[in-house]
Amino acid sequence: MQEYIYVNGSFEKAEEARIHVTDLALLRGYGIFDFFRAIEGKPIFIEDHLDRFENSARLMGLPIPESREKLREIILETIRLNPYPLLGIKMILTGGYSPDGYTPTQPSNLVVIGKPFEFKDPHKGLKLLSMNYKREIPEIKTLSYIVPIRAIPQMKAAQADDLLYHHEGIVSESSRSNIFIVKNNIIVTPKEGALFGITRKHVIQLASQHFEVQERDVSLQEYLEADEVFTTGSTKRIVAISQTDDTVFNQGQIGPVTKQLQNLFLQYEQQS
Ligand SMILES: Cc1ncc(COP(=O)(O)O)c(C=O)c1O
Repeated sequence: MQEYIYVNGSFEKAEEARIHVTDLALLRGYGIFDFFRAIEGKPIFIEDHLDRFENSARLMGLPIPESREKLREIILETIRLNPYPLLGIKMILTGGYSPDGYTPTQPSNLVVIGKPFEFKDPHKGLKLLSMNYKREIPEIKTLSYIVPIRAIPQMKAAQADDLLYHHEGIVSESSRSNIFIVKNNIIVTPKEGALFGITRKHVIQLASQHFEVQERDVSLQEYLEADEVFTTGSTKRIVAISQTDDTVFNQGQIGPVTKQLQNLFLQYEQQS
């Protein structure tokens, strides 16, 4: 199927969509994005993602060239032109073209990409590798993923699926998802140093109807002693963490709390 990408005011065939090499996202890594899914044509948690996109842009000092209403229209048109049953939508806002290669000049470049998307097996727990790292500006969804991408060979060698970030003894998040631990049926998720994930927000809302949920610092020690650990993100929904470094959680099986939340979340998402 021919795919279409929005670039600064018009939709182009995917293979023809371009921005110029003097963009500050390429030259200096200056830009933000957001990502969410559309299922059978329906964007999931779209208003939350627009809120976060606007917030990331504001904190980064990047003006969005379109109104919120227009952004919504562009997203709906992206879905219409790329009618896959499960579509991943990426909105990207870059620093724009800079004559001196450093100083931002307006306007920013706005790109919206719609691509077919697949979930990995939700019944398979992930293995994480711990890494002493904290994202530079954790509350902004920046384009910079250099640390986890650079660690891909190290993860492959350890047969790990992803990373667990911790800094000064405190756990924050994984490379592209948030972290929750379960101990004695109490669910805890880090409050500081992580991106405010949209899935995280909805999982907290949903889980609070069934369990005690705490948002607070989680030490690496507490994490490693958890009964269950799971991770949340738009590309994953809820996925169990079965191992981190040498520590195996719940004998490598998906724990009962994680399983219950996985099922509840599927229904919750459908009703959203
Ligand atoms: C660093 C980081 N943390 C957490 C998340 C999870 O956020 P969300 O649930 O909005 O996908 C993401 C995913 O985009 C991410 O890149």
